[in-house]
Amino acid sequence: MKSRYTAAKNVFVDSVDIEDYIELESSVTAYQQLEHSIEKPLKMILLFGRPGTGKSILLNRIAQKLKHNKEIHYFDTPTISEKEFFYKLFKVLTKKDLPANTEVNFSALVDFCKTLRGKREIIILLDEAQMYGPEMMEKIRLLSDSRAVKFVVSLHKTDDEDLIAKEHFQSRIWEVIELKNATPQDQAEYIHKKLLKKNLFEIANSIKEKNMKLIHQFSNGNYRECNKLMFTIFEICQYYDENEPSKINYAQLPQKIIEMSALKLGYIHV
Ligand SMILES: Nc1ncnc2c1ncn2[C@@H]1O[C@H](COP(=O)(O)OP(=O)(O)O)[C@@H](O)[C@H]1O
Ligand SMILES: [Mg+2]
Repeated sequence: MKSRYTAAKNVFVDSVDIEDYIELESSVTAYQQLEHSIEKPLKMILLFGRPGTGKSILLNRIAQKLKHNKEIHYFDTPTISEKEFFYKLFKVLTKKDLPANTEVNFSALVDFCKTLRGKREIIILLDEAQMYGPEMMEKIRLLSDSRAVKFVVSLHKTDDEDLIAKEHFQSRIWEVIELKNATPQDQAEYIHKKLLKKNLFEIANSIKEKNMKLIHQFSNGNYRECNKLMFTIFEICQYYDENEPSKINYAQLPQKIIEMSALKLGYIHV
């Protein structure tokens, strides 16, 4: 028989699926800030936060919500070359395909953007922008100077380098929206809502307040780490459920299983 924990485990597979978006206090605040910033006559907006704080899902959410009344485009992880990037941008701006074997003439693209000023307003959501080099960022800035194209630049905050301090990110007036790690309340709501969305009521109810506290402690309020931890917790639950059901308390998630998961993920050591 299939364990009831299999479904619970799969709820926490890390993905950015807009159907799974949950309105949490912090994400609603960030969403409203972003929406408000997009309305302002800004050229660039910075969305800033550590990996796993929900930047990509927020950008996808805003793109989905605004697409019916704005020209808004989400550009995902830039694995593409500069050439391909401008190719994609050309298509969005001109609404045309570039003929094969031709390269985008950058200064012509800038001139074209200038002609759009006051006529169209295009919003480009650039995810993982720390991967664009300084020359690319400079070009992006030049395009935003046309005021026909507005960029929302999403950047990972890291410990070892302060990216916004870098010159190419500093030299324009930016509005900065920062996503922080989840509060214990937001994270508990996240876990419950994710499970309830899949009708896993019993399992959701078995995660008590002290469990949530411990989960938050180990994952540090990071949604990606939280996903990993929850996945591992339910993987262990599934094992017991299938092999040693006497060892599991279906009414309350044992703290021990959370600790075992943290151990497995290397958050703690024996
Ligand atoms: N408000 C939210 N609703 C649903 N899932 C969320 C929310 N915020 C974060 N997540 C989930 O947490 C994980 C990390 O989010 P992601 O947007 O990929 O972070 P980042 O881009 O900052 O690294 C993803 O699995 C994402 O679906
Ligand atoms: Mg991301």
